[in-house]
Amino acid sequence: MTDFVENTFERTPQSSGEDAQDVGAVAHEVDEEKPRDSQKRKRDESEVNEDEGESVTKYKKIDGEHTKVVAKHYNTLEEKGLVERNKSRIFYLRNFNNWIKSMLVNEYITKVKESLQMGAPLRVLDMCCGKGGDLLKWQKGGISHLICTDIAEVSIEQCRTRYDTMLARTKRFAPEFTAEFFACDSTLDRLRERYRDASIDLNLVSCQFAFHYCFESLPQAECMIRNASECLKPGGYFIGTIPDANEIMRRQKLSDSHTFGNDVYSIDFQCDTEKPPLFGAKYNFHLEGVVDCPEFLVHFPTLVKLARKFGLELTMRERFGDFYQRMIPRGRGLIEKMQGLETYPAARDGNLSGGDGHEYAHAQEYMDRQASHGRPAKRVGTLSKSEWEAASLYLVFAFRKMKKVWDKDGKPKYIQ
Ligand SMILES: C[S@@+](CC[C@H](N)C(=O)[O-])C[C@H]1O[C@@H](n2cnc3c(N)ncnc32)[C@H](O)[C@@H]1O
Repeated sequence: MTDFVENTFERTPQSSGEDAQDVGAVAHEVDEEKPRDSQKRKRDESEVNEDEGESVTKYKKIDGEHTKVVAKHYNTLEEKGLVERNKSRIFYLRNFNNWIKSMLVNEYITKVKESLQMGAPLRVLDMCCGKGGDLLKWQKGGISHLICTDIAEVSIEQCRTRYDTMLARTKRFAPEFTAEFFACDSTLDRLRERYRDASIDLNLVSCQFAFHYCFESLPQAECMIRNASECLKPGGYFIGTIPDANEIMRRQKLSDSHTFGNDVYSIDFQCDTEKPPLFGAKYNFHLEGVVDCPEFLVHFPTLVKLARKFGLELTMRERFGDFYQRMIPRGRGLIEKMQGLETYPAARDGNLSGGDGHEYAHAQEYMDRQASHGRPAKRVGTLSKSEWEAASLYLVFAFRKMKKVWDKDGKPKYIQ
């Protein structure tokens, strides 16, 4: 039986808490009230009006320069079989990330259900759904209807096939839900126009490991946020996972280079790292065998501000390390089942995914400490240092849809 090391991750050098936030904030030098010149310039360029939707109504004119590159990358990404996946250097990291998503989905499905009347439908949009890695989570959540969309046609087709197979297999034992699928660029196109029913009310919108692609430009960010918000019912949630720009900038400063990383991930900046722009702060991201394409920093205060404009209020933002700490008491069984942590030391004759030595020094230290306190543990659950450095680049967020009312001048405004 594995002992789970709840503070194993605190000991890795890259996840050092609040300091990281400060470095990133300085790097961005953003004054929320007075957008600095570059922001103003971009706003002028896209003719942004403070009224909801003004700039996104012009989205057809813009052309996300990088979205085609991203689509091509995901369209050509090979679907690896189980055997290959088991051999991957980032096997545990992928499972860990999947566990994070499971806990997040579970938490918000539960919240949504608390406010639903008995028997009322629960409808979900999985924006940038990929190959459908979260289908099982939706099934377990007992939802009624799912909309799946992604820019990569190949992924959407795999997602549809996976859904068909899943339903055929589990029909008798698991709750069924209806689903629709279409390929579409969520940063350029209005999703509502593609839904079977454009008047649909959604309870939950999920965008996992993908929202950051929209920070290529302000109109794209607005388009994606509007897509997330406009069909959500008041009280419904928009949840997601994105790289934490503060943490990325902190590591960039530490490395004193445009390129940094380890043997599982690398980041190669393609913009001014002294004063990264609010939109289009581009870097190439490489994650061993899974991702290799341009991404954009998401300046969180800007996201919060834009989201408010579309009636979304921030309710939760946690870095993966903090979210893990909060969730592990109730998610311990699941993380073990999903193999989201690696057992250290390896079982007899087994190999550790990160090789031996310094990749597990934190776990060994923890075990030594436990032993010195008279609580020896034979084995602990952990991630190799490099995998944890990749996982701890990310954060989870949740926004709640506010209620729209009209003021005496006939202008819409959002209230809690
Ligand atoms: C890292 S994958 C995550 C997939 C899935 N959400 C998951 O968690 O397994 C990122 C996904 O975002 C999709 N994507 C990237 N840019 C997009 C865009 N502009 N519109 C829609 N989907 C996009 C990619 O095709 C890819 O499937």
